[in-house]
Amino acid sequence: MLQSPPRFLTEAIPVATEIKSHSNRPGGFFDAAAVAQSHLRALYGVAHVIASTTTLDEAAIPALKSICSELGWDIGLLWVSSENYSEVRLRHWWAPDGSPHAEMARKCKELVFTQQDGVLGHAWSRRGPSWFEDAANEPVFLCRHLAAASGLTSMVVAPILFGGRLLGSLEMFTARRRPQEAGMLPLLMSLGTILGEFIDRVRSQDALEQRAAGLRRSERLEAIGRLAGGIAHDFNNMLTAILGFSDDLLRRVGPDSELRPDLEQIRRAGQRSADLTRQLLAFGRRQLLQPRIVDLGATLVSLEEMLRRLLGERIELLVRSAPGQWTIRVDPGQLEQVVLNLALNGRDAMPSGGRLTLEASNVDANEEFRKRHPGVQPGPHVLLTVSDTGSGMDEQTQARVFEPFFTTKAVGQGTGLGLSTTHGIVNQSGGHIWLASAPGSGTTFSVLFPRATEAARPAGRVPITSLEGKETLLVIEDEPAVLGMIKSVFESHGYSVLGAGNGEAAIAAAEANAGRIALVLSDVVIPGVNTRELAGKMRVLVPGAVYLYMSGYTSDVIVQDGVLDESVNFIGKPFSPDAILTRVRGLLDEKRAPPTRRT
Ligand SMILES: Nc1ncnc2c1ncn2[C@@H]1O[C@H](COP(=O)(O)OP(=O)(O)OP(=O)(O)O)[C@@H](O)[C@H]1O
Ligand SMILES: [Mg+2]
Repeated sequence: MLQSPPRFLTEAIPVATEIKSHSNRPGGFFDAAAVAQSHLRALYGVAHVIASTTTLDEAAIPALKSICSELGWDIGLLWVSSENYSEVRLRHWWAPDGSPHAEMARKCKELVFTQQDGVLGHAWSRRGPSWFEDAANEPVFLCRHLAAASGLTSMVVAPILFGGRLLGSLEMFTARRRPQEAGMLPLLMSLGTILGEFIDRVRSQDALEQRAAGLRRSERLEAIGRLAGGIAHDFNNMLTAILGFSDDLLRRVGPDSELRPDLEQIRRAGQRSADLTRQLLAFGRRQLLQPRIVDLGATLVSLEEMLRRLLGERIELLVRSAPGQWTIRVDPGQLEQVVLNLALNGRDAMPSGGRLTLEASNVDANEEFRKRHPGVQPGPHVLLTVSDTGSGMDEQTQARVFEPFFTTKAVGQGTGLGLSTTHGIVNQSGGHIWLASAPGSGTTFSVLFPRATEAARPAGRVPITSLEGKETLLVIEDEPAVLGMIKSVFESHGYSVLGAGNGEAAIAAAEANAGRIALVLSDVVIPGVNTRELAGKMRVLVPGAVYLYMSGYTSDVIVQDGVLDESVNFIGKPFSPDAILTRVRGLLDEKRAPPTRRT
């Protein structure tokens, strides 16, 4: 006998039938599961892309592709804010190959928005996503005409937020009219957060790498600088002899001698080598600086006429200096060198004309400023900017401009020492230099000096009427060629010269001639001798003598960090006979009639 089915079955069957019929309906159980699966696949796809890439450029398109294909959108756009959040641009987009909607993305690539504009501003102010079913008629959507022209109808926009900042936005479009769907907006918000974290991480890494590259660059420059400084020192000694002897010979051979042209060649070559050596020393920060209190704005104004001539008629020169400028403490000659190097580079970058702007301004190096320029001390500074509207530089060139002998100019048109010298001078003066440039967009060099605290102290000078003298000089110099040159120069001008090639000979000469010596001319670096100690002994042995140092090189013996105390008498090598004669005569005259100092 057929038994009736158990009760639980008779009751379950209609329920199962009901579930079945319900689940197959659109929006039913199976549908919902399929939607949830597609959401998970989109999330997984983006997470996977991010885990396996290191830059936004690598990650963006696969991530957009995963979002669009899993969630049923025809085209996806990723907008990204600039580092200072001032503008937002379309950075990447994805649509299937041959998509008729791609035109809209190509057009959007040319646009720039602020964070307050359009649907992005809308999403930013709400801190959340929005769905526009009829985007082509949505007034807040500024690109609606572009979307309509590309056949797109509905859209979603989700802000990419991280750490309370708007890093960009995700926008997806579809051609069909698509009403809002449950779960889509929260999902896009989560995707935005994942992308936001990624963008933030990539940017921090970039900043760290840039800093590390900057450090490597300055270490490399430092090493080259030491090498250059060392070579330049030895060179200077030899050049002092070459220049000194060729000057002396030129004087002796007379104007009609057939030897004259050859001697002049030697002199010119020597002078050119001396110029190069000076630049190398400056780059190696081994240059002796004689800092004074300087008004940067006034310096620019005083150089204006000369610069205008150097720049030519096709370049417009603008010099701007706000009133109330603070002063700085720099070597005025070196500061002029810096301005000149930067201005001439600007000129060379504008062969068919343009505008060069020199500007001096006061700057407070606050926290915000120092974040952008690491290494700058807090407090008041004076900023020099030199901007041109010239060719600009790509990143590879920018990374190398401060290296000595790096030049992109034709042979004979640039030595590549301008900016390396500038870099050395600025650093040795306690300043900073950096640049902003892009190909085709011109270049701006910025030079920052700390504000000076002391007041200016001008010194009076006794006018020199003759280079001749009858005094006795003691010259301490270990390089026989230089010693010989100095001796010959001074003796031919009436002086008596005692020469000493080392410390012992110097002391012996001082003891034997104590009452006669009027001036001691001493090299700063004498092998095996502590120059400061030697000077101390000399002061005891010849108490009334003037002490004059000479060197092609800075040394801790008389200077700190290459900055010379104003009370030390110093002459840099190589020097010409006239220069050393003038200096010695000036010091001896000053001793006889001390100048009145103004304070
Ligand atoms: N304002 C600028 N615009 C474009 N490029 C520049 C600018 N300033 C410097 N450069 C680039 O940097 C390089 C190095 O400049 P630097 O002043 O050190 O040497 P140089 O100008 O080539 O030669 P020198 O200054 O010794 O005559 C230049 O050759 C050029 O490529
Ligand atoms: Mg140059």
